[in-house]
Amino acid sequence: MANIAIFASGGGSNADRIIRYFQETDTTVSVLISNKLSSGAVEKANALGILVRVFTKQQFEHPIEIINLLVELKVDLIVLAGFLLKINLDLIHAFPDRIINLHPSLLPKYGGKGMYGKFVHQAVLFNKEKYSGISIHLVNEHFDEGRILEQHKVDVEEQDTIESLSDKIQQLEHEQLPKAIKQYLLKLKLH
Ligand code: GAR
Repeated sequence: MANIAIFASGGGSNADRIIRYFQETDTTVSVLISNKLSSGAVEKANALGILVRVFTKQQFEHPIEIINLLVELKVDLIVLAGFLLKINLDLIHAFPDRIINLHPSLLPKYGGKGMYGKFVHQAVLFNKEKYSGISIHLVNEHFDEGRILEQHKVDVEEQDTIESLSDKIQQLEHEQLPKAIKQYLLKLKLH
């Protein structure tokens, strides 16, 4: 039995996969939290009947209300699925080793400030990398540097564009992220 909170700012394709994967299991997606009311993530969570809460950037910077909500919902694990604001230290300290981030590169390569979404793929193509991939890692005080739980690779072909590489990466994310969450919950003895 575990309760998950998803944080998402963007299109929400990963949030959608996670919610569907855990339907009919004893793991509950208790809430989707966003900084963007007009995001695909909010729309998808609403369509799937998941509780949605939207907070401002200021509220994420001073996250007492967010922490209170997570505690009230007895959330065991937070999953950042395309969440683009920095996670405040108070939140990290309130949920030590209980925040997972999804990053669209093989960290430590192409991580850090400004490296998200298509900017990652653009840099990978510019440097003519042979491989890219995804990293699923714990969140600590240092941006994109927490302990890596899993990494999965894809080939970068000469003819790849930002769009084609992004599609490959997203496909890999959709396949791997829900399973990785389940594995981590098992490790925490929560699944
Ligand atoms: C995903 O590709 C995720 O790896 C990336 O944002 C995308 C969100 O897609 N995250 C980052 O770049 C974090 N630094 P989605 O909204 O369709 O799930």
